[in-house]
Amino acid sequence: MQAYRASLLHFLDDPDRVAEEDSYQYFDDGLLLIEDGKVVEIGHAAELLAKVPAGVTVTDYADSLIMPGFIDTHVHYPQTEMIAAYGEQLLQWLETYTFPVEAQFSDQEYARTIADLFLDELLRCGTTTALVFGTSHRESVDAFFEACEEHNLRMIAGKVWMDRNAPDDLTDTADSAYEDSKVLIGKWHNRGRLRYAITPRFAATSSPEQLRKAGQLLAEHPDVYLHTHMSENPDEVKWVAELFPECENYLDTYDQAGLLGRRSIFAHCIHLTDSEWDRMAETRSNIAFCPGSNLFLGSGLFNLQRAVEKNVLVGVGTDVGGGHSFSVLETLSEAYKVQQLRSHKLTPFKAFYLATLGGARCLDLDDLIGNFSVGKEADFIVLCKAPTPLMQFRLAHCKSLIEELFVIAMMGDDRTIRATYVVGKPVHTRSQ
Ligand code: GUN
Ligand code: ZN
Repeated sequence: MQAYRASLLHFLDDPDRVAEEDSYQYFDDGLLLIEDGKVVEIGHAAELLAKVPAGVTVTDYADSLIMPGFIDTHVHYPQTEMIAAYGEQLLQWLETYTFPVEAQFSDQEYARTIADLFLDELLRCGTTTALVFGTSHRESVDAFFEACEEHNLRMIAGKVWMDRNAPDDLTDTADSAYEDSKVLIGKWHNRGRLRYAITPRFAATSSPEQLRKAGQLLAEHPDVYLHTHMSENPDEVKWVAELFPECENYLDTYDQAGLLGRRSIFAHCIHLTDSEWDRMAETRSNIAFCPGSNLFLGSGLFNLQRAVEKNVLVGVGTDVGGGHSFSVLETLSEAYKVQQLRSHKLTPFKAFYLATLGGARCLDLDDLIGNFSVGKEADFIVLCKAPTPLMQFRLAHCKSLIEELFVIAMMGDDRTIRATYVVGKPVHTRSQ
């Protein structure tokens, strides 16, 4: 058994669906008990310390807050090297910066170097699970999953499908994408903690035939994921309408191919029409809200309130390299600002819910991760409450938990993450 003492926070439900005080559990002086990589019990240290068997040392994280590991519901590992690329919006940004960088991932050794760097950065920022884009090369996915397997991470990823409107060294065909993805599913889906996502880049780079082929593969493997982009940028939406004259709207390009459902995750969804929102809800499809990327690429302001009204599940995504930070904490502060610009208040409880249990629900992983319910996998992080002199000063003036959480979400970054644990094992410890 392992025992960790600190303040503890986790979520039981969506603060927008139940009374806020029923949505979370907080123990000011708490204890987290773990055995065989799973949560055994949490509670007040004063009550639980007696249950710790003789010989088990209690790791005391004074002045720290333990939470479930963060979940990044949309990120591109191959874009690590072109993060923070200047001056362009989506379509020119893809042509100018993204495609040339992604072309390098036919080299599995290079891909592995970047995968290692990417995972180190994720863990430093407290992210323990992510839904990840590879490139159109099979090698990019092999390299990524091999790296994940070494840390025993719970990750979902897939090979990109693109059979048009992209450079030759990045395009596949409907048949080759199908065959490559089928091999990768057989090799990686449900191997240890890994899962596979069929990953057409977006409707603009796939022909209707290729999307249909992706739908066929999904029908043959109904428990794998579908991961793509949708309705991110006004020029993109216009272009997709021109490319698919037979479709009613953007969502319909995926719907006609059979790509919607409980394990389908659509990044962005900023410019959806009412009928698209209704169809998202009807099919229980999910959204990755990527506020850092949406601001950086000038894409627009996601309507989080509408998702709540329509009962569409949402997680947060960094969307690196469209986003320029790996930190989910920094992404929460961008989310707050995007909602401010929509005159909507993102509460700190909702923000941390989205980063943990909300993300797990969005990825249909909430039976395994996302909170500290008994039996869940012990992926957790230790947040230092005062990683900088300014935060120490500011937090000393907080009068409530909600105020403290808000300050951590607005001012926190990688320096806030004191330690990251994966199935009960430390995988990152911040040097002081
Ligand atoms: N749409 C199609 N490809 C991409 C990508 O790589 N990043 C983002 N943000 N949007 C996309
Ligand atoms: Zn993206």
